[in-house]
Amino acid sequence: MAPTTAAVIFAALPPAANFAKTKKLHLPFTIPAAPFNIPPMRRAIYPGSFDPVTNGHLDIIERGCKLFDEIIIAILVHPEKKPFFTIDERRQMLTEVLKDIQHGNCVLRVDDFQGLLVHYAVRQQAHAIVRGIRAISDYEYELQMALMNRRLEPSIETVFMMPAEKFSYVSSRLVKEVFQLGGVLDGLVPAAVQQRMKQKLTEGK
Ligand code: PNS
Repeated sequence: MAPTTAAVIFAALPPAANFAKTKKLHLPFTIPAAPFNIPPMRRAIYPGSFDPVTNGHLDIIERGCKLFDEIIIAILVHPEKKPFFTIDERRQMLTEVLKDIQHGNCVLRVDDFQGLLVHYAVRQQAHAIVRGIRAISDYEYELQMALMNRRLEPSIETVFMMPAEKFSYVSSRLVKEVFQLGGVLDGLVPAAVQQRMKQKLTEGK
């Protein structure tokens, strides 16, 4: 004889629920959380060029830490682009400045990747991709990327986060331009990054 639905459910339930069965309780009843039912760790990828990391990036990472248990800050290796900092330099700077941010219990990792972001995210068993949106102008490009990524890999969600208003105009590209033309970067990038930029400039002379 085929088992009843209730029998099948009871067979799959932890011992606490079987107690209800022996006491002849009736469904529906609340099944207490079983000790082995540990919620999965929420892991996100925060991808970018980070050439260099700005205070805007760090602000997004701090905000992301309120939502995720682990964030992998993933630097895109772009063979065709001529970057200001090498991948190793960017990795080192990120690792250094991440020590000074508020991350609570969130684990932060720095990594680099090549190829499709969603393939990398799947390999890392990530649940989400975090992207910062500063203004409407960012939105169109970001929306396009998010939808393409969703088409390529529907299991991964993109989460858009807004940085503090004071960082709404800060980008790595502008930071480099201002720096190369002699402008002051205080408050826009961490002091350690500013230091490395000056060092880089003297090395190049
Ligand atoms: O800091 P950036 O330059 O805005 O970051 C852009 C980045 C790295 C998120 C994006 O270029 C990317 O994901 N590149 C990986 C290649 C890829 O997956 N392309 C398809 C995106 S829809």
